Amino acid sequence: MNAHDTGKPRVALLGLGDMGTALARAWLAAGYPLTVWNRTPSRAEPLTGEGAEAAATAAEAVASARLVVTCLLDDESVGSALADADLAGRDLFNVTTGTPGQARAREEWARVRGARFVSGGIMAVPPMVGVPDSGGYVFYSGSREAFAEHEETLSAVTGAVFVGEDAGLADLHDVALLSAMSGMFAGVSHAFALVRDEDVSLEGFASLLADWLSAMTIGVHSTARQLESGDYTTGGVSNLAMQVRGNRTLLRTAGEQGVSTELLAPYTELMERRLAQGRGEEDVTGVVDLLSVPRR
Ligand SMILES: NC(=O)c1ccc[n+]([C@@H]2O[C@H](COP(=O)([O-])OP(=O)(O)OC[C@H]3O[C@@H](n4cnc5c(N)ncnc54)[C@H](OP(=O)(O)O)[C@@H]3O)[C@@H](O)[C@H]2O)c1
Repeated sequence: MNAHDTGKPRVALLGLGDMGTALARAWLAAGYPLTVWNRTPSRAEPLTGEGAEAAATAAEAVASARLVVTCLLDDESVGSALADADLAGRDLFNVTTGTPGQARAREEWARVRGARFVSGGIMAVPPMVGVPDSGGYVFYSGSREAFAEHEETLSAVTGAVFVGEDAGLADLHDVALLSAMSGMFAGVSHAFALVRDEDVSLEGFASLLADWLSAMTIGVHSTARQLESGDYTTGGVSNLAMQVRGNRTLLRTAGEQGVSTELLAPYTELMERRLAQGRGEEDVTGVVDLLSVPRR
């Protein structure tokens, strides 16, 4: 392990975009010796003024530290950036956003090159990095031993949550949370479209909406319990038949307000399909079953 006079291990960080730069500043602020590399070298200049050492090549950065963190655009850029690097004996932590399949393939790629591999999914935006109690964290999965060895270093810049030895799990968790967020913001867009042209304070409406969405998150626990038990009728408070009737009011209101139903309709159609299967007494959890399609 590299040691600097801070006594902390050196970190080699590849990628100085918005997120990489935030990580770099947070490690420097926490007193970690840091080697940085970026495809466009000028992005490293402000950081060298703050104590980082800039490597001329990615291979040189990799050679400088046991812990190598890649924070690049996509999985392809990780492969191309590291093409000439000697990864033997290195611990590669790739926090570049990718799919579970890309993480598993990248783990095998790293293993063949003699490195331990951990994939990361960053649940934060750059201003949250290095800020205690910001709520930002990173999901990690892959080599448990490598994670344990570097956990303190990783935790110096964000929360660090290890979710399993299957390298794909961090990205799966990341994408699952982002997918839920996407659906939530689709609903938020629809809600604002309904009220924006009426005599409604949008700021006041936003407060009501935020509180409502927070209150409704309790339902995710009941969904988990129902999926685990296979019993979709116990624990629900609003059965599917009732919810489908309610949806018809949502769609009709959209029509009255001159708002497209293109965000709302796909979900309501799935609920209608489940109801048509005679599952009106269930919770909406049965929609999860309808979403299963062959893997690609
Ligand atoms: N920003 C966020 O809010 C956020 C939040 C969560 C996760 N993330 C994830 O963090 C990762 C980095 O995001 P970012 O915001 O830092 O992105 P960014 O500002 O767009 O920076 C992209 C970085 O990738 C480098 N790069 C692109 N193609 C490359 C290639 N072929 N070879 C080598 N380097 C290449 C760029 O180098 P150049 O400077 O030379 O172009 C730059 O350092 C992404 O996977 C992103 O999904 C970001």
